[in-house]
Amino acid sequence: MALTIGAVTLRHGLMLAPMAGVTDASFRAICRQMGAEYVVSEMVSAKGLCYEQRGRAGAPLRTAPLAKVYDTDAPMAVQLFGREPDLMAKAAALLATGSYRGFSGLLPVAIDINMGCPVAKVVSNGEGAALLREPEQAAAIVRAVKKAVSLPVTVKMRAGFDKEHRNAPELAKRLEEAGADLLVVHGRTRDQFYAPKSDNAIIAAVKKAVAIPVIGNGDIFTADDAAHILAETGCDGVMPARGTLGNPFLFAEITALLENRPYLPPTPAERLQTALAQAADMVEKKGVRTGVAEARKHMAWYCRGLVGAAAARGALMQATTTDDFRRVFDDLLAQNP
Ligand SMILES: Cc1cc2nc3c(=O)[nH]c(=O)nc-3n(C[C@H](O)[C@H](O)[C@H](O)COP(=O)(O)O)c2cc1C
Repeated sequence: MALTIGAVTLRHGLMLAPMAGVTDASFRAICRQMGAEYVVSEMVSAKGLCYEQRGRAGAPLRTAPLAKVYDTDAPMAVQLFGREPDLMAKAAALLATGSYRGFSGLLPVAIDINMGCPVAKVVSNGEGAALLREPEQAAAIVRAVKKAVSLPVTVKMRAGFDKEHRNAPELAKRLEEAGADLLVVHGRTRDQFYAPKSDNAIIAAVKKAVAIPVIGNGDIFTADDAAHILAETGCDGVMPARGTLGNPFLFAEITALLENRPYLPPTPAERLQTALAQAADMVEKKGVRTGVAEARKHMAWYCRGLVGAAAARGALMQATTTDDFRRVFDDLLAQNP
């Protein structure tokens, strides 16, 4: 069933999850080509965005580029993390209007608020998943951001902080009352990080508790996983994360299943061509040095499951140009006709 978020309508509610250090503009664009209907930026620090605006003109910007929306990855939401409602509102207003130093490209279609990041450095600042323990603070952030922008405000959250505090349904209600327009629920607590299995029952409980759309997240590695989470939770869309690493084709697979069409997986040659196209785009956007360094892990993910992948991984980690990637892939293709 179609899902509307502000100005955009998605046929299947099929979204790419935010992954810091992974889902940059190049990867987002490839996921869009494969069928992701909506993407979310890597998490952007509200403090970082606001403070760097005060820096001297010409000083390099680190945060603003993370929020850049290209025509190849739109529609995109920008995800903010932080804990002070005022600062979150200020950052959201900058993003929603494009009125910040370093802005170029398109405007985001929504502002997403991170209430799921489990990393100690973030949680110890009271940000990310720490907000799951502070429903009033979490609601205050949503109210403030809602007041500051006319874009939809969405929240990405977890099941709760730990197994004694699986409060996602109650928190979801609070966030809805505060003005949230959509929730993404990862069915794990903060304590669980990324294992064991994500719990679809808590996503179903959130869906029952609120009237706004709920997107299911957690352990979507195959089209069947997506179909299960939709059927088991009644959620309005799905947001794969780790299942897309080296496998943006997952979006084509899920789309085919939802549209009752057969899915033809890519051949090894098609896979590696996609990988090289991603690497080339990363180099174009970030320069050779950073682009190749950041592309290495992606290239290795694309090789998973191929004969000779382990040896190829070692060689990929030494690569300094995209031609090096190509040479490793040529060897690999000779072993995987
Ligand atoms: C490397 C990595 C980076 C992530 N960065 C973010 C982030 O910036 N913002 C966010 O909300 N979630 C982030 N996540 C969490 C994912 O979006 C997702 O909620 C989680 O991985 C569960 O989905 P999965 O089981 O399909 O991987 C990250 C996950 C990974 C593995």
